[in-house]
Amino acid sequence: MRPENLKTRIFLDSGDPDETRQGLEALKFLDGQTTNPSLVAKNPAAAGKKFSAAEVLNFYESVVKEVSFYLPQGSVSVEVYADQDTPAEEMLEQGKQFASWISNAHIKFPTTQEGLKAAQQAVRDDLRVNMTLVFSQEQAAAVYAATKGAKKGDVFISPFVGRLDDIGQNGMDLIKNIVEMYKNGDGHVEVLTASVRSIGHITQAIALGSDILTAPLKVLKDWAAAGMPVKDQQQDVQPLALKPILYQQLDLNQPWQNFNIQHELTDKGLAKFAQDWNNLIEQA
Ligand code: G3P
Repeated sequence: MRPENLKTRIFLDSGDPDETRQGLEALKFLDGQTTNPSLVAKNPAAAGKKFSAAEVLNFYESVVKEVSFYLPQGSVSVEVYADQDTPAEEMLEQGKQFASWISNAHIKFPTTQEGLKAAQQAVRDDLRVNMTLVFSQEQAAAVYAATKGAKKGDVFISPFVGRLDDIGQNGMDLIKNIVEMYKNGDGHVEVLTASVRSIGHITQAIALGSDILTAPLKVLKDWAAAGMPVKDQQQDVQPLALKPILYQQLDLNQPWQNFNIQHELTDKGLAKFAQDWNNLIEQA
């Protein structure tokens, strides 16, 4: 059962509806689920298979529909296919198609120039969005500015804490900085802590006031087995010293194009998602 004093919503990060069932069984609640191309490619029903371009979309649709069936009150994030050449219009078109699959979708767009353009139009068209592959406070400021006018609940931002830890930077500092910066705003963007690798990430995200967090089944099961702690007990703090990420003073009222949104982990992450997706498709 959900701990009484838990305000952060808990999502499962997975492309497998069987894990949705297991997550519900372990926690007795789940507030939503996030998927991405790499996670869908890891679904056991896809392992070792090759699909046509149409079949792979049908497969994603069936996964998303099953997840949504288990979590009718929750949110289910569905990610568009994008590589460095995908124009905003194409992402938006996919977003509209994916949003028609289920009534509780948040469409994931990458936090790139084209992804932000797509998201700006998507919120005007009443789609819910989840801006992914976020690694910097400037990207968070750009997400805020590009989606201004959307209502609370319709925009999530997904900073990837584990991948920042991987390069020696303290990913949780980015959550702290974005939560702090958004206090100067109108509250329309909800912070979704992603790339969670440990119970420590979960308890720190809760302590920092992250609106949502998403974690793999194994981490959620570990958290459940530990009694679902909501206080940061530093029980599995990274043994390596991580470099702090410093707070930047940024003006949220600027146009999103004014922010420097370039980040090498965004580019790398985009390329890897595209590669994992393309590997599922039989090349002619
Ligand atoms: O939610 C984002 C996540 O799927 C990425 O996690 O562990 O690949 O960095 P990871």
